Amino acid sequence: MAPLDPHSYADGESPLTTHVALTLYLDFATCSLHGSALLTLSAPHSGPLSLDTRSLTIHSAIDPTSLSPIPFSLSPPDPVLGSRLSLSLPSETPLSSILLSFSTSSSSALHFLSPSQAASPFPYAYTQCQSIHARSLFPCHDTPAARIRFSALLNIPSSLSAVMAARHHARRDPIPSEGGLSLPDSLWCAPGRIVEQFFMEQPIPPYLFAFAVGHIVFRDIGPRTRVYAGPDVVDEAAREFARTEEMIRAGEKLFGPYDWERFDLLVLPMSFPYGGMENPRMVFLTPTVIKGDAAGAQVVAHELAHSWTGNLITNKTNEDFWLNEGFTTYAERRIVEVVQGEERAALNMGIGWRGLNRTVERFRDNMEFTKLKPCMQGVDPDNVYSEIPYEKGFQFLWRIERQVGRPVFDEFTKKYISTFKFQSIDTETFIDFLKANVPGIENQIDLRLWVEGTGIPPDAMEPVSAVYNKIKTLASEFKNGQMPGEDEVAQWNGQEWELYLENLSANVDPSQALALDARYRLSESRDWEVKVAFLELAISTGCKEYYAEAERSLKQVGRMKYLRPLYTALAKCSEEGKMLARRIYAESRNCYHPIAQGVVESILSKHA
Ligand code: BES
Ligand code: ZN
Repeated sequence: MAPLDPHSYADGESPLTTHVALTLYLDFATCSLHGSALLTLSAPHSGPLSLDTRSLTIHSAIDPTSLSPIPFSLSPPDPVLGSRLSLSLPSETPLSSILLSFSTSSSSALHFLSPSQAASPFPYAYTQCQSIHARSLFPCHDTPAARIRFSALLNIPSSLSAVMAARHHARRDPIPSEGGLSLPDSLWCAPGRIVEQFFMEQPIPPYLFAFAVGHIVFRDIGPRTRVYAGPDVVDEAAREFARTEEMIRAGEKLFGPYDWERFDLLVLPMSFPYGGMENPRMVFLTPTVIKGDAAGAQVVAHELAHSWTGNLITNKTNEDFWLNEGFTTYAERRIVEVVQGEERAALNMGIGWRGLNRTVERFRDNMEFTKLKPCMQGVDPDNVYSEIPYEKGFQFLWRIERQVGRPVFDEFTKKYISTFKFQSIDTETFIDFLKANVPGIENQIDLRLWVEGTGIPPDAMEPVSAVYNKIKTLASEFKNGQMPGEDEVAQWNGQEWELYLENLSANVDPSQALALDARYRLSESRDWEVKVAFLELAISTGCKEYYAEAERSLKQVGRMKYLRPLYTALAKCSEEGKMLARRIYAESRNCYHPIAQGVVESILSKHA
């Protein structure tokens, strides 16, 4: 049967899941999850049906109406896809729902933190499903081509609370027998347990399924926005994100109504592997974006922009990932321009342009992944995550904007969103829509080169910005021993420093790095972007003085944007650096989310 998505066992012929009713029991003592999932299909079906799973034990599959068992088998795990769950639905009576029970103690989506790892008197657990980890929480059609509604009962210790990217309905005592067959009442209703109940009425791709459990409190910061976080950071977070409502309004003006009712923010523990994740109704954020200078606003603008581009219109497969991230990067910068001004937006574009060029250079031996739409058969999305879909996607849309003019492009974007909302589409659908709505565009822009070509097309453009140009000039003067003066850096925040450091030529010598740090204390910056950009540079030039600071950092943070450059710099710089990287990883492995563990392991095996 024709595969629908290179990253899913779902086939194109059988009906997809449209609703899931979940019961999930979180056992913090054993770091495991036990659950049941009642899947509803888009149409009654008989015969074979494939679902995605990873690291799940399947206890039973039954027809919920007759309670008769459904024969099933689990394939040996594929390293990228996980295990296919093959069900044989009865041929006499086609089924439109299936009840599965399962458990896992090694879910690649779920990170359990001990109190000390959570820097709290309480343990914590949270999920990260994008790109293909929802299958490690419950058996599902784990392709963004599918859209599901769901209800969920989370059974957790009563000392904790649960939040979800869904509508909270109730916190209440467990009710006997609601845990189903695999969750006996002795467990489900044990003393000290509580149930949190949620509904998600809007259909979402499975990668947007998300919850977190811990000692979580909140502050209201706007009419539809609450910040959720640990009690130690919630006030600081509320200050950092104070202008969120302003951003939502800017987004609505540009892209149409905000369709998700609430826009809450959850600040996770330091181990959260991304800067932000656009889980609907509740964005997940790393605490490293809270810097006290409103820099977190950029990440919030990005995740907010996904409410339109990504969550309303979703990439059909991971090969179309640029439709999510490129569009969102474009939308993010439009929102930043409204809220923080043109200069700030241009600086972000400059940082992006630098990143795009650096990434193309890094993929020099693997140009496939410099394509907007790469072939991802057999490829783990976590292993090829890069700035290409973000920045080349941004450049493509910006190129179209330049061609047609902003007013026309804004109309086009609004129409695009209202036409395809709550659908999952591929790149070809976007291109057809573009051609239909901007007649003749294919004669003005080489669309094929943009979508299918490698590298950076000649009509991409380096942004023009006074600050950006000034910083580049200062960076080019550094190799003659010239440092920026105090007056020049007085107004710089993290992004300016990040751009400056990334523009320094690779052959800085160690004494220059030390001198720069002696003057500006970059290695001690509270801003992680600055600290990591400096440590990466210093370690790559061979400064052993910074091994200790790198170790402290790697033991504090789990955001992959920082783990990648620091582990890579250590593993590449010297034998001693390699050994250090291995030791640090061995000592911090459990502090990282399983996805980050996989990424660090692949760095270490590549360089060590
Ligand atoms: N959706 C991404 C994060 C992601 C991508 C998770 C792929 C898993 C697989 C999110 O919207 C994102 O892009 N986050 C960025 C924020 C930045 C671009 C402002 C990040 O985490 O750094
Ligand atoms: Zn994104």
